[in-house]
Amino acid sequence: MQFAEVLRRRRMIRCYDATRSVPADALEAILQAARRAPSAGFTQGVSLLVLSMATERETFWRIAADDDSRWLRGMRTAPVLITVWTSEEAYLDRYAEVDKGWTDRDPARWSAPYWFVDAGMASMAALLSAVDHDLGACFFGIPADRIPAIREAFGVPSSQLSVGVISLGYPAPAPAMGSPTHRARKSQPEVIHRGAW
Ligand SMILES: Cc1cc2nc3c(=O)[nH]c(=O)nc-3n(C[C@H](O)[C@H](O)[C@H](O)COP(=O)(O)O)c2cc1C
Repeated sequence: MQFAEVLRRRRMIRCYDATRSVPADALEAILQAARRAPSAGFTQGVSLLVLSMATERETFWRIAADDDSRWLRGMRTAPVLITVWTSEEAYLDRYAEVDKGWTDRDPARWSAPYWFVDAGMASMAALLSAVDHDLGACFFGIPADRIPAIREAFGVPSSQLSVGVISLGYPAPAPAMGSPTHRARKSQPEVIHRGAW
């Protein structure tokens, strides 16, 4: 698929064909795409926990969400969930190394929390790779008060910060959902400033 088409076709998919599993080679390619993403200082402090067994996904949803919304009914049909984690510690450690020299590990040095920036980069690479494999995906967050229980259920170390989850599967026909149904894309001049703001 041409890159421009991958970009154009990418949409968050919130309902999946539950009868079709994600081919192992496609899942592998998507995970490798995330691993190929850039990272500050090549820290590579982003980790992925893949839930592809029904029991794992059931545990995830039991902890992460319990309402009976259309959103949840659709999202529960995803045959794979990739939970995305990052480590602030890993970045503070990396930037304290001799070639970076931030040995004081002072958080005020950071112009932006690169541990989350990098997780966004990795997630976007995975989302685009999903489209390239004719799959659909949706990035969503775990409610903050459920994160400790998710960590405990799946043995995620306490140093790991939850970034979100990528649901993955073949898209099923479904009515449009999500913010673009009631919000327009901003115009180019609202977003892109040239020469001065
Ligand atoms: C950081 C982030 C968090 C998001 N969280 C959710 C979420 O919790 N639930 C959801 O359905 N969509 C979520 N989305 C998807 C956005 O709603 C979606 O990307 C946006 O409305 C634009 O639609 P599109 O991606 O289909 O073009 C999230 C997207 C991002 C980038």
